[in-house]
Amino acid sequence: MSDRIFSLIDALESQHSLTLEDYAFLAGNPTEDAMKYAAEKACCSRRNLYGNSVYVRGLIEFTNLCKNNCLYCGIRRSNLHCQRYRLTQDDILSCCETGYHLGFRTFVLQGGEDGYWKDEILIPLIRKIKEKHPDCAVTLSIGERSRESYQRLFDAGADRYLLRHETADQPHYERLHPKEMSFSNRMRCLWDLKEIGYQTGCGFMIGSPFQTPETLAKDLKFIEDFSPDMCGIGPFIPHKDTPFKDQKAGTLKETLWLLSLIRLMLPHVLLPATTALGTIHPSGREMGILSGANVVMPNLSPISVRKKYELYDNKICTGDETAECLGSLQKRLKSIGYTLTADKGDVHRP
Ligand code: 5AD
Repeated sequence: MSDRIFSLIDALESQHSLTLEDYAFLAGNPTEDAMKYAAEKACCSRRNLYGNSVYVRGLIEFTNLCKNNCLYCGIRRSNLHCQRYRLTQDDILSCCETGYHLGFRTFVLQGGEDGYWKDEILIPLIRKIKEKHPDCAVTLSIGERSRESYQRLFDAGADRYLLRHETADQPHYERLHPKEMSFSNRMRCLWDLKEIGYQTGCGFMIGSPFQTPETLAKDLKFIEDFSPDMCGIGPFIPHKDTPFKDQKAGTLKETLWLLSLIRLMLPHVLLPATTALGTIHPSGREMGILSGANVVMPNLSPISVRKKYELYDNKICTGDETAECLGSLQKRLKSIGYTLTADKGDVHRP
């Protein structure tokens, strides 16, 4: 069996593609030796394209209002314990200003699906950020919208868009989301974003309820076909005020394993070591980098709202992951042989 794992890792590294059956076998067998082998190869393939650079993105969580009711998410509409907030345009611009002085050259505007942020409101905001900081990239992560809206925001200057697909298996998608959300619309959004010309990111949670090696195989196949510029994966962590409060969290081990497999499949992909990974283990993000990740996204939101953007329990928000602690993050990365890189950090497709 272990021979099969190693030969599949080699095949993924050289062909960047496997069958669904092989993906399922790999996904379900993270043995210690295979993880080590895959992580070394993943780091090598990343080094060829990105050297030892780790890219930083300043994350601005600008609203936690959300019309959706995803079963896993702490800011779901029906969580009445969630204290809702919405930053103003000036708050957001001042986060960018602070971030710019700290050295950030990418701002990620992330929020729930909050109906307040119509195109008419977002367009001038995006324009202003780009006017003030023409050397910076603006990434949006604001959920499902119409193709026309995506186009208008792109025309206003947005460069990148993150929309996790959450799972590429439709029945699984339907167990994680309420009836009014649809797998087909999620996929439509991702393909529209890509066609419009955004640098596009998809992604999913590791260890979400009902996930199996077979659903993971579909995630890997989808990522292979979609060939995203970015891919956000992190462990599922239950939130106490959601229907999934008693479900098990995803593990560090599985997350690191999937990071390595995704790097081998897509050597160019911008792959964050996520906050969720830093939440389940104090050195989670360093371990993520050592498994193939090459992006970190420190929190640039005003300190007063950070605790309120609680997608899952115990989200880290006061330690080294914050934007103010860039120096200490830099030291931590340096100690494992990497340098934080201030530039915009566009994708390097081979
Ligand atoms: N645990 C981990 N990640 C979560 N997300 C939402 N809820 C949770 C949770 N409980 C992720 C989703 C979403 C992203 C913004 O955060 O994948 O797309």
